[in-house]
Amino acid sequence: MSLLEDLQELKARAIAEVDKVADAEQLEQFRVKYLGTKGQIKQAMGRLKEVPKQAKPAVGQLANDVKAAIQMMYDRAKSSLGPSGGDKPLTDVTLPANPLNIGRPHILTQTINEITEVFARMGFDIAYGPEVEDEWHNFIALNIPDSHPARDELENFYITPKMLLRSQTSTIQTRVMEAGNPPVRVIAVGRVYRPDTVDATHSFMFHQVEGLYVGCGVSMADLKTCLDQFCKGYFGHDVRTRFRPSFFPFTEPSAEVDLLFHKSDGSTEWIEMGGCGMVDPNVLQAVKYDPEEYTGFAFGLGIERMAMRKHNIPDIRLLFENDVRFLRQF
Ligand code: DAH
Repeated sequence: MSLLEDLQELKARAIAEVDKVADAEQLEQFRVKYLGTKGQIKQAMGRLKEVPKQAKPAVGQLANDVKAAIQMMYDRAKSSLGPSGGDKPLTDVTLPANPLNIGRPHILTQTINEITEVFARMGFDIAYGPEVEDEWHNFIALNIPDSHPARDELENFYITPKMLLRSQTSTIQTRVMEAGNPPVRVIAVGRVYRPDTVDATHSFMFHQVEGLYVGCGVSMADLKTCLDQFCKGYFGHDVRTRFRPSFFPFTEPSAEVDLLFHKSDGSTEWIEMGGCGMVDPNVLQAVKYDPEEYTGFAFGLGIERMAMRKHNIPDIRLLFENDVRFLRQF
């Protein structure tokens, strides 16, 4: 048989054999047999000198091609055996891929994003403040005197006698006003902390969105319109809002805002959303704004409560347990 035919047959044999290679040992045998220093390719190369001169270039080329092809077979077989050398079964590339679990923002993050988006459309900037606060921003500047029960040690997480984990995002009102002149129109979103016993509607940590608008001629009517528009923007146009008189040290007059919510069974229910009011002149004075010139409104709403209403979540603890079976639904 001519060398040309031998080379072709050699390649065919290698193709058939490489398919049967199942582990590292067989692969090594394959390598020695075909590509080794005394292997069949080497032997075939050695026979090139017998080839008549005019056929030499063609046969030489074929010998090189066969060698490259067998080398490639070897490389492929080696990589499909993997680093373990074939103890594991070969990867079946025809199998359908495992579905990817695509992550998503936590439902509270989604809620915060939606809320800030609605307020941003109404022209509010976003402000942030520290979670560890001093008594000036958490109480004094907000017209909450030393004797006030809200300052009680049992109502707050004090770190030192004058520092605490903020109990309300109203702290950011003062920080924003200290940092600039009127008009200001901001919302502030963040965590607040209170030593409440945990149950279906209470947690020692939750989120609030605070709003503040101070300028010339800002009125209670502006406040009502703002909160009504926000509720319609976030919950949908069929909701209604109402104000109930209330008291907060940092607003005068103060109100609580309720939302008439349409439940999925068709009934309606008034639910409390948070507090609001016209910024107390003492609060304006604390940040050196002239209360004769400027007025403002403020509000503070509970974020968990909104998320729970909108998505029919019965227990606040579900929001913090991070059970993926729950989180995946949103
Ligand atoms: N800070 C109050 C709270 O935590 C909520 C609140 C009420 C905020 C009235 C305000 C406001 O800005 O004007 O319960």
